[in-house]
Amino acid sequence: GKADIGVTGLAVMGSNLARNFARNGYTVALHNRTAARTRALVADHGDEGSFVATESPEDFVAALERPRRLMVMVKAGEPTDAVIRQFAPLLEEGDVIIDGGNAHFEDTRRRERELREQGIHFVGTGISGGEEGALNGPSIMPGGSAESWQSLGPMLEKISAKAQDGSPCTAHMGPDGAGHYVKMVHNGIEYADMQLIAEAYDLLRSVGGYSPAQIAEIFHTWNTGRLDSYLIEITAEVLAHDDDATGRPFVDIVLDQAEQKGTGRWTVQIALDLGVPVSGIAEAVFARSLSGHRDLRDAAHGLPGPRAKALHGAEAAAFADKVEQALYASKIVSYTQGFHQIQAGSDTYDWGVDLGRVAAIWRNGCIIRAAFLDRITAAYRARPDLPSLLSDRHFAEEIGAAQDDWRAVVAAAAAGGVPAPGFSAALAYYDALRAERLPAALTQAQRDFFGAHTYRRADRDGVFHTLWGGDRREVDAG
Ligand code: 6PG
Repeated sequence: GKADIGVTGLAVMGSNLARNFARNGYTVALHNRTAARTRALVADHGDEGSFVATESPEDFVAALERPRRLMVMVKAGEPTDAVIRQFAPLLEEGDVIIDGGNAHFEDTRRRERELREQGIHFVGTGISGGEEGALNGPSIMPGGSAESWQSLGPMLEKISAKAQDGSPCTAHMGPDGAGHYVKMVHNGIEYADMQLIAEAYDLLRSVGGYSPAQIAEIFHTWNTGRLDSYLIEITAEVLAHDDDATGRPFVDIVLDQAEQKGTGRWTVQIALDLGVPVSGIAEAVFARSLSGHRDLRDAAHGLPGPRAKALHGAEAAAFADKVEQALYASKIVSYTQGFHQIQAGSDTYDWGVDLGRVAAIWRNGCIIRAAFLDRITAAYRARPDLPSLLSDRHFAEEIGAAQDDWRAVVAAAAAGGVPAPGFSAALAYYDALRAERLPAALTQAQRDFFGAHTYRRADRDGVFHTLWGGDRREVDAG
């Protein structure tokens, strides 16, 4: 029989997805630029299911059941275009090309448009969960036509992770670039989550006086509560690990410069274009970038500042509880911002993304999987038109209960000279949103002063300008 799906690009993500399809009973055609890799995959894992190894693009396409489903698992960017150029001429109307890389959603929109003219469905899909997820069940965020979802959906549902209630962690996100856009924001949130965890660790160590092994225990405990999540779990494991060569805590021997491949940066770039305040994600991207400026850091090393005084005993334990509150409250803010950005993208590109569905498919399989996502799913299910996560009664209550401790932690960070940009930015966002009046009034007045940019009044309709250079009379500028 012919193959149900083909995978081209057999690096680790492609190989693992191919094996996942095969283990779920699908016949999988395999293709790679260099055939040795295809042969190795069949030699090592051929007994896991039904594979059809092919060498030429023509044989690969010929091995597929029609309408064909062809998954591209190559590097995002030009390599993806090159593969599409190679395969598109061999395909027919109704066939589906799936791009499972971390593509920029604008590229996905372009590719979808170009291939649509040929009658080919192009599905840009986010896939999260790393190598392990690809093999055993990732969270899958496909975009593309509704028709392509008809043909692809059941297979993706089968290979995806399942939430605790049994539902698959995949769903149609919306047309063209919607899937890759949602994955991009997923990664932005991933950056923010990681940054907040890093700040919590730093504070527990410098202010709380705890060792990495003790902090591992604290995270381990947090992971049994409302912070229960994959990232907290792996943090505990990393912090409990000692370096083989030196016997020192592993976290102390890793160079303190965090790298990035681009999805977090894209999230912030797009947020700036759409006017969405994703300050938590932005601080996370900047924190990574700052860490990489070794020269600037060396030059600033001797600048004065306080040295955090480590707490002891019950005081340290009380502080750890406060950090948990600050982390949880800041996490609510990051997700509020991330979901705002998804809504804004959906509005701009007319995707009709269902935010509750996004939260639901992030409950398992992906890097940001967490018990917390169950709560967000419930919030959007109860009220699909929720203006913001902070308008959900439960989240509002929790953040309200956390805010005293949150402030204490941000204050302790400032007093102790410990950078906590994620915690502080989240708190500033919270306070700005809830403020009755913002100093934006003054900003707008300044704009009117130096550039006659006009202003509106709080007490009546209209557009006005004050003659600042003259007699300071207010004139109608409408
Ligand atoms: C995932 C991850 C995955 C990848 C990130 C890492 O969802 O499985 O997000 O896509 O690990 O792109 O991003 P950085 O290299 O930028 O940290």
